[in-house]
Amino acid sequence: MTELSQHIYWTGYIDWDLRTFHGYTTPKGSTYNAYLILDEQPALIDTVKHYGFDEMLRRIRQVIDPEKIKYIVSNHTEMDHSGSIDTLLEYCPKAHVVCSPKGEEGLRRHFKKNWNFKVVQNAETLTIGKRTLQFYLMPMVHWPDSMATYLREQRILFPNDAFGQHYASDVRFADEAGIDIITDEAAKYYANIVLPYGTQVHKALAQLQSLNIDMICPSHGTLWRRGQDIERIISLYQRWAGHITDARVAIIYDTMWHSTEQIARRLFELIDTAGIPVELLNAQAASLADIMREVMRSKVVLMGSPILNNQITPTISAVQTYMKGLKPRNRFGMTFGSYGWSQSGFRQLEDNLKESGIELIGPGKYFQFIPDEGDLAALEDVPAKIKDILSTHTAPTKGVL
Ligand code: FEO
Repeated sequence: MTELSQHIYWTGYIDWDLRTFHGYTTPKGSTYNAYLILDEQPALIDTVKHYGFDEMLRRIRQVIDPEKIKYIVSNHTEMDHSGSIDTLLEYCPKAHVVCSPKGEEGLRRHFKKNWNFKVVQNAETLTIGKRTLQFYLMPMVHWPDSMATYLREQRILFPNDAFGQHYASDVRFADEAGIDIITDEAAKYYANIVLPYGTQVHKALAQLQSLNIDMICPSHGTLWRRGQDIERIISLYQRWAGHITDARVAIIYDTMWHSTEQIARRLFELIDTAGIPVELLNAQAASLADIMREVMRSKVVLMGSPILNNQITPTISAVQTYMKGLKPRNRFGMTFGSYGWSQSGFRQLEDNLKESGIELIGPGKYFQFIPDEGDLAALEDVPAKIKDILSTHTAPTKGVL
């Protein structure tokens, strides 16, 4: 049990063993943060995944009898945060479940129960004694039901998934874990969970701009409490939501007999020699989550595949399917690869990249079987094309991550 601020307790669950979160690899695990606010009518902000219930209950009991909880605020229906509401209500059956209108719909569909719902509208307030909760609906950040809860008197924001990180730790605050490590995890989280919803993120940030915030308590990972860290993460969210990138290149590829790898490595060498920051990601070795984190900060994405049975490989196809859903914008790209006797599969590679929202900067570089020095020399115009793009389309400042 940790008291974060006067009468505000962290009662969550640390998921040390979590290694995948619906396809997002989580080598550092995660946490599901629940927060207990003691007042005349105690309120619990969010719960934990179902298997963390006993631990959450034990933490609550260290502070109060759970029967005294009057409000369970469900900021978001997804089961990593609402998965324990039903069991918790067995201990406080009279408690209201506070949620957005879409939250009520979602919770009814998930649990098929007629709970004591208290549905709140945007900016509605709820007095719980000496303190006041105010609710801000944040549709599609990242579900239709998502909302943030603001504790006015102590200037604490509980924005659920927003500003979170999949990061298990014995410390609760970002500055204790190391701000650069946590910022990097927050970037990875944004790239894999929030990236498609930039417009909605901007709307949510505009709404929250009027609030004085002394602490941000997300539903995953560590909490932001120092003024400069809060300013930094909000400003990064502004940039990520605007698809503002660094002047850098991500080369993503799969390979069968090392031919596409040869092309990828020569591209890396040429771009690196031209002084452009570049990262090489073999899709067999890098996780989808790490690939997306790199795509998020890169202005240019080069993607390569060999041809297998007239198709791109299943590995690169998975990368492209994942990327299409996450909709990176304002980025440029090019394709490359090795083929045996048919180039038809490259059309798929190009179309998928375009459907991700990436504008192609030129025809793909495709070579039969094993590229020779003449083939590889044909890659030499790529750095100049990239420089041209970077000089006209990249924001002058750096440091997206
Ligand atoms: Fe952490 Fe959208 O749930």
